[in-house]
Amino acid sequence: MAKGRLEQYLTDLSRGLERARLTANQDLLLQARPTRSYSMRQCARYLNVSYQYLTKFAAQTTGFPPGQTKGRERVFNTHELMQIRILMAAHAKRPRDYLAWRSPLDPLPVISFASQKGGTAKSLSAAHFAQYLSLNFGMRVGLMDADPQHTLTLYFAGGEEGVGLPDPGTPTMVDFSGLYPSDDAPFTDHDGTTLDSFFLPTGWPGVRIVPAHSETSEGEIQIARLLRANPPGKRFYRYLRDAIDTWSTAHPPKTEPGDVLGQGAGALAERGIRLEHIQDALTETLDVIIIDYQPALTLFQLNNVIASSSLVIPQTMKGFDLATLATFTNGLLGMLQHILAHDRIEVGAGEHMLLPTIVQRSNAQDIAQLTTLMENCPGEILPLFYLRSDAIANAADVYQSAYEYEPETRGKKKGMDRFVENADAVNDAIAGRIWPHLSRGHADTWMDAIYSDGDDQTPEAAE
Ligand SMILES: Nc1ncnc2c1ncn2[C@@H]1O[C@H](COP(=O)(O)OP(=O)(O)OP(=O)(O)O)[C@@H](O)[C@H]1O
Ligand SMILES: [Mg+2]
Repeated sequence: MAKGRLEQYLTDLSRGLERARLTANQDLLLQARPTRSYSMRQCARYLNVSYQYLTKFAAQTTGFPPGQTKGRERVFNTHELMQIRILMAAHAKRPRDYLAWRSPLDPLPVISFASQKGGTAKSLSAAHFAQYLSLNFGMRVGLMDADPQHTLTLYFAGGEEGVGLPDPGTPTMVDFSGLYPSDDAPFTDHDGTTLDSFFLPTGWPGVRIVPAHSETSEGEIQIARLLRANPPGKRFYRYLRDAIDTWSTAHPPKTEPGDVLGQGAGALAERGIRLEHIQDALTETLDVIIIDYQPALTLFQLNNVIASSSLVIPQTMKGFDLATLATFTNGLLGMLQHILAHDRIEVGAGEHMLLPTIVQRSNAQDIAQLTTLMENCPGEILPLFYLRSDAIANAADVYQSAYEYEPETRGKKKGMDRFVENADAVNDAIAGRIWPHLSRGHADTWMDAIYSDGDDQTPEAAE
């Protein structure tokens, strides 16, 4: 039978997009990543020590990575930065100052970047938050991509250690949640080891991802099927939550941050750095899970909400988008109340926050909406926001974050540095709400600059 008109149209469009190289660029994803390296000064900032202290520590410590020489500077990649962190923890009185790893009794935070509206910077915010936690605290981050568009996966796929772009056979959150039937049950109750295997390595040390691809949309269909099958002992909103519980029980934190290289700094000097010890400690557990949502409020996304301790709701200040925020809030509240009427579970025990995004300071309407929201929801909204940036598009073109992207020209570098300052401030604010002791002051510094009227140094004035 000849192709129908729509089928023909989509076939032609798909071929055209491939010719135009507008499908995900595999070449880019095959390069080692993150490509970025960081100067001694930048490392000192991430480690929260002075430059002088770090250079002295480097000179005196066995096993300090040599890094590379770039111009007149010594630079380090993300793996070397992690190695430095581990060394500093081994020598420190309070190792958690350098490796903010969970203690065995600490709960596992599950932080969701969620909104019903598309294009509100959910994926950008989630990716930058994950990388901020890795760069600044050496956290072991588990990413979950809940969106068939797989934007978050593109931020992290690729690289030598990492996986390439997932193919249709790669397990996704739908597999993790056990939503497919097994031979003898309408769903699959995976054990902890199997669940752990669904977290694939990325090029970032300690950061792993359950990726997404087009089949992630099967999640919705499978839940609908299970709703009808109504398997005993399973509730339609608990698939992900139960799976995370199983994984988490099987993978508690074991290694203390000061002991990654074996007990005591003395032993370290003798034995030097054992990379396999580091790898084991980096993969034995996770310190946080971050979920990036599909722009929708579906039963699959509801499973994500029920599994989460915290919601971060990225939101632009545009009228249509704000209307969706009310729909999302009320829709989610209705679903939650329905569940809580029948099930006495604790949902979302952590901090929740609205994060204004892509804010244009020169746009009076953006500022008016932002002010109205801050006046009416002062406890619910973060007091800072992501500014719209032209620079970020360059990084997005190559599937990179502002933390990974290295601009070539001075002009581009300025814009990117400004975005990094903005991202640090936002991430410091989010992290500070969830782990108050991890606040680094970036949020306050940025807000002081942005709220001081007429100051030409404010981030957007130079945009
Ligand atoms: N602060 C910003 N300045 C300029 N562009 C931005 C900013 N934040 C995000 N963007 C751009 O907006 C687009 C949407 O961002 P992103 O993919 O993170 O949103 P999303 O909410 O995850 O979208 P979706 O709902 O489709 O999942 C992207 O092209 C991104 O690069
Ligand atoms: Mg997205």
